[in-house]
Amino acid sequence: MAYRHFEFIEKHAAALGIFTAVMVSFGGLAEITPLFMEAHAVKAPAGVRPYDPLRLAGRDIYVREGCYLCHSQMIRALRFETQRYGHYSTAEESVYDRPFQWGSKRTGPDLARVGGKYSDDWQRMHLLDPRSVVPPSNMPGYPWLAKAAIDGADIQARMRVLRRLGDPYSDADIAAAPVEVKGKTELDALVAYLQGLGIDNEPHPAVATAKVGKAGTP
Ligand code: HEC
Repeated sequence: MAYRHFEFIEKHAAALGIFTAVMVSFGGLAEITPLFMEAHAVKAPAGVRPYDPLRLAGRDIYVREGCYLCHSQMIRALRFETQRYGHYSTAEESVYDRPFQWGSKRTGPDLARVGGKYSDDWQRMHLLDPRSVVPPSNMPGYPWLAKAAIDGADIQARMRVLRRLGDPYSDADIAAAPVEVKGKTELDALVAYLQGLGIDNEPHPAVATAKVGKAGTP
């Protein structure tokens, strides 16, 4: 009896395809569902806070300008990566990143822990004209950032959306945002964002090896 059913499936390609798809989906669900549950359980560790208004603006400029097309922000747990960039990245570090900027495309170096590696002035010059500080660089310049102002009301709206998604911004944080970004340019914001990357959230600093990366080599 059962054999006849199998024979039917084996002789009809469409039925075989449908049943295969059903079985594969069960397998997929069994693997994927727990990951979704886990994603909700990921909590911010000490030191990882939602972006302050200026860095939040900088992060959105980073996304707008497509910096992620050449830069990853995910240090893999491989010795040559941790020796160059510092402690490998963890999921907890990105709880306030929507969307996260991990990526894998590295035309330029990984930026997950670039904060503090250079001075603010270096970052400014590099963003305006990369070849002024790294002659062989093929990174494009972003001179227009120095001329564009940050809109305080716009940042407040973004903070409200993030709060709805779960970021713990208080009313006072949101009310203070326009003052914090007043008179700042997009360049200031992007530099503030870069200088904060990996600064407060590096796990177990004692374990992390020194950053030995050299500008100019991805
Ligand atoms: C076309 C690819 C490309 C794009 C797009 C790009 N970069 Fe780069 N970036 C590079 C390369 C290559 C280097 C290494 C040479 C250098 O330092 O200029 C680099 C270096 C850097 C460094 C220095 C990293 C280090 O550890 O030395 C920073 C910071 C940086 N980029 C930030 C940015 C930001 C912010 C953006 C977006 C506004 C951006 N990059 C867009 C290719 C790119």
